[in-house]
Amino acid sequence: MHKLDAVDDLILDEALTVDPAESGDASEEDAFGSGEDTDEAGSGEDLADAPVLVLEAPAVAAELAGQGRTVLHRSDQLEDEADVPAELLESWDDPRLAEVRLVLLRLPANLNALDELAELVATHCHPEVRLVAGARVKHMTRGMNDVLAAHFGEVRASLGVRKCRVLHAAGALPDARGTQPTWPREAALEEFGLTVLSHGATFAGNKLDLGTRLLLGQVADLRPAPGADRAVDLGSGSGILATVLARNGWQVTGVDSSRAAVAATAATAAANRATVEVLRTDALTDWSAADLDLVVCNPPFHVGSAKDSSPAFRMIASAAHALRPGGELWCVYNAHLPYLPALRRDVGPSEVVARDRSYIVTRSTRES
Ligand SMILES: C[S@@+](CC[C@H](N)C(=O)[O-])C[C@H]1O[C@@H](n2cnc3c(N)ncnc32)[C@H](O)[C@@H]1O
Repeated sequence: MHKLDAVDDLILDEALTVDPAESGDASEEDAFGSGEDTDEAGSGEDLADAPVLVLEAPAVAAELAGQGRTVLHRSDQLEDEADVPAELLESWDDPRLAEVRLVLLRLPANLNALDELAELVATHCHPEVRLVAGARVKHMTRGMNDVLAAHFGEVRASLGVRKCRVLHAAGALPDARGTQPTWPREAALEEFGLTVLSHGATFAGNKLDLGTRLLLGQVADLRPAPGADRAVDLGSGSGILATVLARNGWQVTGVDSSRAAVAATAATAAANRATVEVLRTDALTDWSAADLDLVVCNPPFHVGSAKDSSPAFRMIASAAHALRPGGELWCVYNAHLPYLPALRRDVGPSEVVARDRSYIVTRSTRES
């Protein structure tokens, strides 16, 4: 279940303030520096009956839905969309967005992710939409104000409360409406003859991550054998690995838990005329057959801003179950991370096949 924390509480309290100009310290100058920290957030009038859009804040969506509000919610990560007793916003083309005058957001650390969300809100919601976006002060940067100011005429910060703040944005800039979306964004990866597309929250954007580069150097020449051509790019991000494998004749599925990743994987494959199936799932935990010949993976070692290897261990264990006996898992990761014992235990014989100053690439063969 999703539990409210101090950021969620402040977002909810500030959202109840009808006029953000009355909410206290409104000066942009003081957005993150000298603002006084108080114990209490202001409260105010009720939210209107119009639908509220809640982004990246599942506990806030659950809380408002529990109060009987009409709530649409959406998050990048699958787990943030699970078990929320409110309606999921499946598409930014949903006509109900035109009625949305209040959007509540937990600020993503990634400014590109914030830029895409701000653009979508300014473009698709009611012209008088108000955005209330919060985070812990230690995770906020001045760049967040600048990103919001590119899409909204008014941007101001709240007082700090329990080491959290919100940014209020209003006055969606008319330029946003009727113009072409600026996401996904495209770049050429000339040395591999690829066009790469990324959404704001896609890992590494449309650039080639250094770990991925090392892995790509090892797998770009792998060719499928007759009857042994099923491959998965596990945690596919922008889909570079998936697209290269598909171009080499593999039947590829790109798997990722992030909306920004699966959309980018599909877009990158399409831009390169490659056929890649995409699935938004938690690792390969739902993969029913042990039928994969090849899995490639550059696993995450962060969850949000905290270092955490548990998703990587889950990916390794799930790949082990989805590989056929003799199938191979190729992984790249920071050389100091303790993944080799897990690869040997869960998958089978594993060796280091490449390394540079930061990363190692391992090949593990599934034991029967
Ligand atoms: C380090 S990035 C690698 C992305 C891409 N393969 C590349 O090399 O550029 C790790 C990817 O794993 C995804 N991911 C994290 N946890 C996951 C999970 N439990 N299931 C599936 N994908 C996950 C992230 O969304 C991210 O796209």
